[in-house]
Amino acid sequence: PVSAAPVPSPTGAAGRSPAPSGAPVAPELLRWIGEVAALTRPDRIHFVTGTDAEFAELTDALVAAGTFTRLTGKPNSFHVVSDPSDVARVEDRTFICSERERDAGPTNNWRDPAAMKAEMTELYRGCMRGRTLYVVPFCMGPLDAAKPRLGVEITDSAYVVTSMRVMTRIGTGALDLINTGLPWVKALHSVGAPVEPGTTDAVWPCNDTKYIVHFPEERAIWSFGSGYGGNALLGKKCYSLRIASAMARDEGWLAEHMLILKLTSPSDVVHYVAAAFPSACGKTNLAMLEPTIPGWRVETLGDDIAWMEFGADGRLYATNPEFGLFGVAPGTGWDTNPNAMRAIAAGNSVFTNVALTDDGDVWWEGMTPEPPAHLTDWQGREWTPSGLAADGSVLASAGQPAAHPNSRFCTPITQCPTLAAEYHEPRGVPISAILFGGRRKTTVPLVLQARDWQHGVFLGATIASETTAAATGAVGVVRRDPMAMLPFIGYDAGDYLQHWLDLARAPGRRMPAVFSVNWFRRDADGGFLWPGFGENARVLKWVVERLEGTAPAVRTPIGDVPVPGGLDLDGVEVTPEQLTRALAVDGQEWKRELPLIQEWLDSLGTTVPAALRDELDGLRERLG
Ligand code: PEP
Ligand code: NA
Ligand code: MN
Repeated sequence: PVSAAPVPSPTGAAGRSPAPSGAPVAPELLRWIGEVAALTRPDRIHFVTGTDAEFAELTDALVAAGTFTRLTGKPNSFHVVSDPSDVARVEDRTFICSERERDAGPTNNWRDPAAMKAEMTELYRGCMRGRTLYVVPFCMGPLDAAKPRLGVEITDSAYVVTSMRVMTRIGTGALDLINTGLPWVKALHSVGAPVEPGTTDAVWPCNDTKYIVHFPEERAIWSFGSGYGGNALLGKKCYSLRIASAMARDEGWLAEHMLILKLTSPSDVVHYVAAAFPSACGKTNLAMLEPTIPGWRVETLGDDIAWMEFGADGRLYATNPEFGLFGVAPGTGWDTNPNAMRAIAAGNSVFTNVALTDDGDVWWEGMTPEPPAHLTDWQGREWTPSGLAADGSVLASAGQPAAHPNSRFCTPITQCPTLAAEYHEPRGVPISAILFGGRRKTTVPLVLQARDWQHGVFLGATIASETTAAATGAVGVVRRDPMAMLPFIGYDAGDYLQHWLDLARAPGRRMPAVFSVNWFRRDADGGFLWPGFGENARVLKWVVERLEGTAPAVRTPIGDVPVPGGLDLDGVEVTPEQLTRALAVDGQEWKRELPLIQEWLDSLGTTVPAALRDELDGLRERLG
């Protein structure tokens, strides 16, 4: 059982400190806990310390409740399935409640903050009855950062607490910093499912009504109704992207949906690269890539979020605010991402909506070339590769994947064998190049370089990608996804793009080179033109050669691409004509793209930077 603490009085004068150390707790934190407890009516309050013993208590309780299954195949690891209605981020239920509608912009859902609070207050009323209210102090990024970015998540989900422990620095260290008077973000979460007396709790409690709400001016987050990933682990998308992007706008830095990697050449030249791809487009794979070309080395700093701030030398320095990986499981395997598999094998992980093997381990599509002969699928049903039961009857799971397409592994990043030592450096690493990527069957070449920063911002602002299972809604629909941030920009998109342009205007700035990449271009018959994964090191090599000034390029209307023979193809199974088609810039295809880009910029309204319209005019002219 978890330890209980008395509900502190709103004034904090409840007799003894609710902090486990007995140390005085910041009055504003006590006041807020009291206010939330009075509204939500939990049975117990638990101050989370973040210790191993506490993790063991929480996971034992989750096992006892039937929510977690302890794996026998991996140490200290658990399998959990969500409610089938609660499997992904809910973008249509995600709101930016700025004071002015104009500040949320046309790409976000907006509601008046007071009206939203009034509505959600009624949803929260009594919503924690029968539950424990967990107070989770957390710090995004190292505790010893010059400006630690702190928060407190109040949640009624033990699953959220255990996942937050993997994903962020939680507990006493963060609380100590909060108690020194530093600013912190209030993040309130409830699954929205009180346990009525005499009833048993659901294995995955949640509510059909879901709200993922941000108050950017107040730097506050209110989440209701979902227990899943980015909807509920509020340090991640809600804080480190939506709220942090608004902080970054105000303070002159960037909070981005990017991996960070360290690339070392055979002659020991080091470059740090940040790369933006939409959810489920291979950020984790690229961040942990095993190069297929001799002498090149990739080390990992982050796989999802990069915070980038200017150093005294005018360069952009990137840190990863997270402490764990919340990776898409399907497609992660020994052949595609062996380093992720090694990180996972070390245990200490929570697996959501993957399949269970008969010997107490996990499996998902793409983990191994052949599926096991028998599984329990993510919905708890018997599953076989043929879809037939032993007696020959057709299983209910027949023809369906054993793991949900958006199933996840939640694993400490420190278990990644390629983690770069600089991950722990609070000042971060200087970024030489930014890559923007998407998932496009056509049109977009394997790699191209922007002519300059403004053109690079245009490339990032207009990139499109086919939608994936990472969010609810249709899959495979091409949508514009600026900087892979469409679901995560916490303010007006035009202002966001202007912020990107403005960064280069201050004196002494040495901006990274910008590239666009597309691993997903296809043949007429549907086959991929480029093998991807470890072979993407060949593209990274070209990027470095461009940075070093040693690789020539062909100038095309859309940017600079490798000259014929400019990519190192030694040992790769790609025919010269496949490569030609992977790199091709087809003027007709790009002319068809022009009205779509125009429409996209128009949809952003009056705040879209004039410089980006100029870039579109320039592109139209060059295409002739
Ligand atoms: C999530 O879906 O919960 C999440 C963390 O984000 P993404 O889809 O970008 O992986
Ligand atoms: Na809107
Ligand atoms: Mn992501």
